[in-house]
Amino acid sequence: MRASTAATFLVGLLAHLVLAAPTAEMVLTPGGYRAKSNIHEIPAGGRLAHVGNMIQVLSANGTVMKAVQRGDTATRVKSAVAPLATGWVAYASWLNTGSSPIASFTTSWKVPAVPRTNNGQTIFLFNSIEPNSGNAILQPVLQYGPSAAGGGSFWAVASWYLDPSNTFFTTPVRTSPGATLNGIITLTSSSGSSFTYNTQFTGIGGTSLSIAGAAQLTWATETLESYGVTTASDYPAGSTVFSGINLKLANGGTPSMSWSTQSDAADGLFTSVNTDGATNAQITIEY
Ligand SMILES: *[C@@H]1O[C@H](CO)[C@@H](O)[C@H](O)[C@H]1NC(C)=O
Repeated sequence: MRASTAATFLVGLLAHLVLAAPTAEMVLTPGGYRAKSNIHEIPAGGRLAHVGNMIQVLSANGTVMKAVQRGDTATRVKSAVAPLATGWVAYASWLNTGSSPIASFTTSWKVPAVPRTNNGQTIFLFNSIEPNSGNAILQPVLQYGPSAAGGGSFWAVASWYLDPSNTFFTTPVRTSPGATLNGIITLTSSSGSSFTYNTQFTGIGGTSLSIAGAAQLTWATETLESYGVTTASDYPAGSTVFSGINLKLANGGTPSMSWSTQSDAADGLFTSVNTDGATNAQITIEY
């Protein structure tokens, strides 16, 4: 009895201390809200490399600008998001379970009109790729609204790499409604279980992001992610059509596959596959 009372007191005290502790400043990333101290902008022309349990940020000339501890690899980057809330609200995905790695993954889409209302919401649209463990993501991202990378009531593009605690991004580049984006993810080399990838928006300087020494990336997605949306008009009108979706394998082949979809019907967000497969596939996310 006494021991359990003491234990209860201790738990209460600990809870108090935790709650009373100053909370780290949190900022929005395509992996949800994260500690600002773990957000890293990649210098123009720079790149990333896993070295042991560190991730290095290298400048264009190869100098190591920064080295940060890798996040706990047992943790997934896509924090579990309640349906009908915020985060990954609508998406299509495919997991490569074959023996040949994904060598390239391309997607084209048009920058939508700006949303009719601005209530401080953030909208991310991207294709992305993650390892089997789900503990990292590489993604060329179109963003409306604020994030850790900057942004505001306009559309901008940047490439991002996230591990369970660190977030790396290239400096956002503004873009305009109607512009066609080509988000490409490429396996540039591999050696054993060490893979080097690049992602960028074709033809948009400053968006190239390479990561060396990564795990094999197997889970491909086309995603709408949002935060702080208060009303349907906080989304752009109409739909976003991800087209020219092409997946190639390292063995030169094309996977025989079909896309799985996730919608958020309660909020009027629907993902549909117009053309399935790995060659010129088309997926629509309707707002
Ligand atoms: C490499 O780039 C960094 C960052 O721009 C710079 O500080 C450094 O002087 C450069 N080193 C050489 C050898 O050019």
